This record gives sequence, structure tokens and C-alpha cells, in this order.
Amino acid sequence: MDIKNPLIRPPVADDGYPIYTLIKNSPPLDLNSAYLYLLQSTYFSQTCAVAEVNEAVAGFLSGFIKPTAPDTFFLWQVAVGENLRGQGMARKLLNWILEQPACREVRYLETTITPDNAASWALFQAFARDRQAPLNDEVLFSKQQLGGSHEPEVLVRIGPFNVG
Ligand SMILES: CC(C)(COP(=O)(O)OP(=O)(O)OC[C@H]1O[C@@H](n2cnc3c(N)ncnc32)[C@H](O)[C@@H]1OP(=O)(O)O)[C@@H](O)C(=O)NCCC(=O)NCCS
Repeated sequence: MDIKNPLIRPPVADDGYPIYTLIKNSPPLDLNSAYLYLLQSTYFSQTCAVAEVNEAVAGFLSGFIKPTAPDTFFLWQVAVGENLRGQGMARKLLNWILEQPACREVRYLETTITPDNAASWALFQAFARDRQAPLNDEVLFSKQQLGGSHEPEVLVRIGPFNVG
């Protein structure tokens, strides 16, 4: 399996710790506990995705359908191994998750981005452009709400867009 054709699939429990390691090596993402990634890989696998290259976890995307809005996928984290970036893997993960049965009703994508995460802004701006969908942003969690030493988290909402 090469980088141009990663195997994209739902995560399983055995992916939990490799995902934890991937996120640990992907600043500026906040690292959650290994237990959290195990939970996502088991109970939330329908709205998460792993990209596998040479039988190793090379990319990961997590999210959920917003409990108050079945048409909205909230993307929690997306990361691609440093040596594999810039080759379309994050875009593939994003397109794949939106094609899954759990996202059948999804017409909006939401995520939060810190103001200085250029790669992340570029990824979601490219997604909005590809889908010809509007992108709106506003601060969701302020620096103060995040304890004072974390950049604000800006909510990005993209849509409506067509799936498929
Ligand atoms: C953000 C991240 C997931 C992007 O993954 P990737 O596989 O390299 O992204 P892709 O190759 O699919 O690129 C998708 C688009 O984003 C753009 N892009 C990605 N990284 C970029 C960068 N560093 N600078 C400028 N543009 C960038 C690409 O050019 C492409 O846009 P285009 O179609 O206009 O050319 C990756 O950089 C990463 O893991 N970063 C660390 C973790 C993180 O910050 N995650 C996001 C917050 S949840």
C-alpha cells in the first residue's frame, strides 16, 4: 500500500495506541489520553477514519455527528504523519468519512482551528473551495476559557455542500 493509495478504513481497538503516538508527534494538536483514542477506535469508529500505509497508521481523523444537528459533522482532530504530508492524505480522509453511512444526512462540516495553524486553515479552505461551499468562522473558545496559555479555538463552519 503506497502513499498515493492509502487504505482508508474505520479504526479498531488495536489502532488506539498507534493513533495516540501519531497525535503525540503532530503538534500543535492537543494530545488526549491513550484511553480516549481507544474509545474513539471502538465506540466511535463509525465517524472516525484511519489511513494505513505499509500496515502502519499514517493518518487519522476523528469526529462525531453533532447531537443537536444531524446534518453537521464535527471534526475533532485530523493528523497525517509528518513525512507523508502535502500529498493529499488529509483530503482523502475527509472525503472518505463524509461518504460513510453515518454521514448520510451531513451537509455541514464544523471544526475548530487555532489562528496560526496554517496547514489546517489551508486544508479546510481547500475543502470549502472544492465543494463550492461557504466558510464562516468565529471564536468558539477564547484563550481565557482554555486556561490562558492555549490559543483561541476558532469555529469553522463549511456548508451547505453536496455529498458524493
Ligand atoms: C493539517 C494536516 C492534517 C494536512 O494534511 P495533508 O495530508 O498534508 O493535507 P493535504 O495534502 O490533503 O492538503 C489539502 C490542502 O491543504 C493544503 N495544505 C496542507 N498543508 C499545507 C501547508 N503546510 N501549507 C499550505 N497549504 C497546505 C494543500 O496544499 C491542499 O490544498 P490545495 O488543494 O489548495 O493544494 C497536516 O499538516 C497535519 O497533520 N498537521 C499537524 C496536525 C494538525 O494541525 N491538524 C489539524 C488540526 S485538527
